[in-house]
Amino acid sequence: MSDCVTSNDKLFCGTCKILANAEIAASVWRVALEAPKFASLARPGQFLMLRLPNSNDPILGRPFAVYDADPATGRVEAVYAVVGKATSRMTALQPGDALELWGPLGNGWDAARRASAPKRLALVAGGVGSAPFYLLVKELMAQDPAVRPETTYVFGARSKERLNCVDEFRALGVDVRVTTEDGSVGTKGFATDVLPEIFPESLDPADCQILACGPTPMLRAVAAWSAKRGYDCWTSLESPMACGMGLCYSCVVKWLIDPALGDVEGNWDYRRTCVDGPVFNAAHLVW
Ligand code: FES
Repeated sequence: MSDCVTSNDKLFCGTCKILANAEIAASVWRVALEAPKFASLARPGQFLMLRLPNSNDPILGRPFAVYDADPATGRVEAVYAVVGKATSRMTALQPGDALELWGPLGNGWDAARRASAPKRLALVAGGVGSAPFYLLVKELMAQDPAVRPETTYVFGARSKERLNCVDEFRALGVDVRVTTEDGSVGTKGFATDVLPEIFPESLDPADCQILACGPTPMLRAVAAWSAKRGYDCWTSLESPMACGMGLCYSCVVKWLIDPALGDVEGNWDYRRTCVDGPVFNAAHLVW
């Protein structure tokens, strides 16, 4: 493993050894890397860029949420869906092979955690949206239960073949709910269908917060449900990215200056998902 010249005290950039790379659900893989410096820097909800070394095909790196980062062992893990050339080629990599890695990047969940101190918290994931929650749940479950929000992790998938990492979340001790569209496991329906059970109407909206990551239709539904209840809701976006470092503007989203005024002229600006996100207050986004 080697660092590159741009590594500093906030960013690692280098070539890392692959420790494991395996399919964990239908077209969903998890790669583990030896990256001690990165592991010591990463915060829950941040992302990393990976690129195949010694190849210009594809030339750009790809962003992936940090699944786990253990400073004690130096092991860093990312979960990826096989959706294009880069991720297809990544599936052929074996332990001992190398990947170029840079990061950690983005704001992560810390902004959401600072925004409110909920008593009831739901983490809603779909697809590979499970990835940015694992480190967060680890951190939450290490807190004193007396101060920790009552937390439920909801994972929604099309069918049981698409479930990923659910048992590992259960092993952390967090309450886990699973939904599948075909009813093959868990509650039949969508992740949003179990939110009324988690948040009885008797709760004070000021005590409730929802964090979500996954496909846009799911995020849109979670944001709408949260807005109807007046809950604080933050979403981690999976916008397409090129540079990952704020330079190319390929990842911009429309951001409302005053959410109360809505999507009207003069009340919006662009935000870059890679440096201003990927975590945004859902009320500021145009769904
Ligand atoms: Fe280049 Fe965000 S990916 S600015």
